[in-house]
Amino acid sequence: MQILGTGRAVPQNILTNDMLAKMVDTSDEWIVTRTGIHSRHIATTESIESLAVVAAQNALAAAQLTPHDIDIVICATVTNEQATPSLACLLQRDLGLREDILAFDLSAACSGFVFSLITAQGLLQPGQRALVLGAELLSKVTDFTERSTCVLFGDGAGAVLVAPSSKPFYWTTGVRGDAETLTVAPLIHMNGPAVFKFAVEVLAASMHNVITQAGVEVDQIDHFVCHQANERILASAAKRLGVPLEKFVMNLATHGNTSAASIPLVLDEAVRDGIILPGQRIVIAGFGGGLTYGAIYLEQ
Ligand SMILES: CC(C)(COP(=O)(O)OP(=O)(O)OC[C@H]1O[C@@H](n2cnc3c(N)ncnc32)[C@H](O)[C@@H]1OP(=O)(O)O)[C@@H](O)C(=O)NCCC(=O)NCCS
Repeated sequence: MQILGTGRAVPQNILTNDMLAKMVDTSDEWIVTRTGIHSRHIATTESIESLAVVAAQNALAAAQLTPHDIDIVICATVTNEQATPSLACLLQRDLGLREDILAFDLSAACSGFVFSLITAQGLLQPGQRALVLGAELLSKVTDFTERSTCVLFGDGAGAVLVAPSSKPFYWTTGVRGDAETLTVAPLIHMNGPAVFKFAVEVLAASMHNVITQAGVEVDQIDHFVCHQANERILASAAKRLGVPLEKFVMNLATHGNTSAASIPLVLDEAVRDGIILPGQRIVIAGFGGGLTYGAIYLEQ
């Protein structure tokens, strides 16, 4: 799979830790130390649809493609406003995509973008292109009176345009049906320490799995692009893999956890900042509710 272009969009409004400390019994010091998060974007006027549209338009511009060039749309989300129409279908209208496309939403919580990329890889025929997004308005399902969860989450959307290629693509996924540890029904409920333990266990292991499949050494990976949930989870994965944390691209400090949107958001930032470059080896990995996890090895 080749990434042709990336794009992102976040709400204008920023909610800082100090602002949260006026809403619940918490502090900037507690949040930064436990998570690495300083602030997050929270939608006021934006909708999940408007963020997804802008992210997709930015990806199209980066790839120098037109809406007519898209054959498949997969939108990873657990916070679309309604069950139907899907966000992917609304993008057909909003972006002016062709009618003869395949478009659907995919629900796999914070692993949604990884599951969507793997799905796109399986569907794409030679000459086709897929628009793969992660878009979330987690503020709509966050209980802002619950300090153990409301400090973690943010809103945003990220998009990539991908096409089939002869370059290596390896993937692994895992699912553990679990209706206790992390749920959105209708608000987010989470056993933080249990999620932490799960994430630390599966993140490094799944990345190690795809690196082994690819037949490369861990230190040959240029960048690790992981779900942005907690800096301590990423630091633990780096330690377990024996690589410097600097190889993990991060925007947790300014975005918090945006679930399915977090990987395409940080990917776009790293591409536009010239950190991720053509020809590099990348591992993408997610983990979250379901419980779900997955990793992809990609050469650009
Ligand atoms: C949520 C998380 C940051 C909590 O950190 P922790 O070190 O596990 O903290 P605990 O939940 O054990 O709570 C420790 C104490 O801090 C308190 N606390 C919880 N949230 C707090 C907050 N926002 N501010 C201040 N204190 C807080 C708890 O009440 C508890 O107090 P107590 O010891 O008096 O009972 C951590 O568990 C985590 O990051 N988990 C993974 C979450 C995640 O990534 N979810 C999404 C996955 S996709």
